[in-house]
Amino acid sequence: MLQRTFSIVKPDAVRNGHTASILAEIEKAGFKIVSIKRMSLTEEQAQGFYAVHAARPFFGALTQFMASGAIFPMVLEKENAIADLRKLMGATNPANAEEGTIRKKFAESIEANAIHGSDAEDTAAFEIGYFFAGYELK
Ligand code: CMP
Repeated sequence: MLQRTFSIVKPDAVRNGHTASILAEIEKAGFKIVSIKRMSLTEEQAQGFYAVHAARPFFGALTQFMASGAIFPMVLEKENAIADLRKLMGATNPANAEEGTIRKKFAESIEANAIHGSDAEDTAAFEIGYFFAGYELK
């Protein structure tokens, strides 16, 4: 059954000119890009997005980083999209990411790690709704 997930090309990857390469990896892996846009977040908007991490010591740095430049939020669709995107992204810390994964190829550090992907169905639903209106998801 087709499943949707949510992803962001993060500010480090956009700044470094990796957006098109990352989108190509995503399409090559069989994902349909249902919706995508270029935008910047305020720190408040980044804090709302990462609210589940509010108690973590890295929350301030993470939300400042996510507000530091343009991002490309997007909604992706394929069978098993949530798990397959996480496999394609690789480990959160690029030092631990497998060869061939997006983070191995394009990430700089555990914070500036090129791409975000939802980790479960409930977080995917929240994250899609945070960035996209229903009429953008046809
Ligand atoms: P992401 O999948 O977008 O969700 C939470 C983010 O926190 C994660 O990617 C990392 O980029 C970021 N982060 C920053 N520092 C840490 C850390 N020490 N441990 C885990 N995640 C971190």
